[in-house]
Amino acid sequence: MADALLEFRGVNTYYGDLHVLKNVDYSIGRGEIVCLLGGNASGKSTTMKTIMGVVRPQSGQVLYDGQEIADLATSERVKRGIAPVLEARRLFPRMTVYENLEIGAYTRKKGPEFDQDLERVYQLFPRVKERRTQISGTLSGGEQQMVAIGRALMSRPKLICMDEPSMGLSPLFVEQVFDIIQEINKQGVTIFMVEQNASMALSIAHRAYVLQTGVVVLSGPAAEMKENEMIKQAYLGEMQVEAA
Ligand SMILES: Nc1ncnc2c1ncn2[C@@H]1O[C@H](COP(=O)(O)OP(=O)(O)OP(=O)(O)O)[C@@H](O)[C@H]1O
Ligand SMILES: [Mg+2]
Repeated sequence: MADALLEFRGVNTYYGDLHVLKNVDYSIGRGEIVCLLGGNASGKSTTMKTIMGVVRPQSGQVLYDGQEIADLATSERVKRGIAPVLEARRLFPRMTVYENLEIGAYTRKKGPEFDQDLERVYQLFPRVKERRTQISGTLSGGEQQMVAIGRALMSRPKLICMDEPSMGLSPLFVEQVFDIIQEINKQGVTIFMVEQNASMALSIAHRAYVLQTGVVVLSGPAAEMKENEMIKQAYLGEMQVEAA
């Protein structure tokens, strides 16, 4: 595997007395797409929040680019190249699409780079360009997700952390979003994503981890995970039933 951009070493995260992440190890290589699977309440979103510094681990190490980031504020993490696309999208609903994209670049000065990045987002998402003056709260769910991904790109990230990018999207939008995630990855951005849509996620991911009640129970190349009986029954089978 490529050298690690992000690593968890023996991470334990709690909410009060509730022990959510239990001695968790992850290693996300530069240039990889890694997907995190797991049932409800297994600690997937907590993983993403721990990376962003929204939640602090009680013990263990979170290393980014070889450095311990436990003490860094979320904004400093964004400055260093980690961008979140977290649950419920969290756009500023009263601001326009353009203003939301502008906020994505808040850690940098405006200038030619800003214009280039904006152009790149508009190229990836023609729909976002078309809607740039619209108030974000009035966009469809799929459009909001595109703006959220576009906003993450505006910070020029090395690593994008996504929490269920396909949630609430119609099959056509899901496909588009996954195509774009793959495209962003090809442009050099490392992706760590939580996904319920296991078959889609495994089709674009290089590797995957499975979390069960806060413990990593399985990890490996995505192609192998697709053939794994436990994964088939717990995640892929379930998806097929849901899709039927
Ligand atoms: N702020 C919080 N305070 C207390 N408990 C919390 C908090 N956030 C999450 N939890 C609890 O931690 C556990 C793990 O939550 P988490 O959101 O990480 O799960 P998840 O794997 O993302 O689940 P889902 O698939 O349902 O999104 C859950 O039992 C949840 O109720
Ligand atoms: Mg979650």
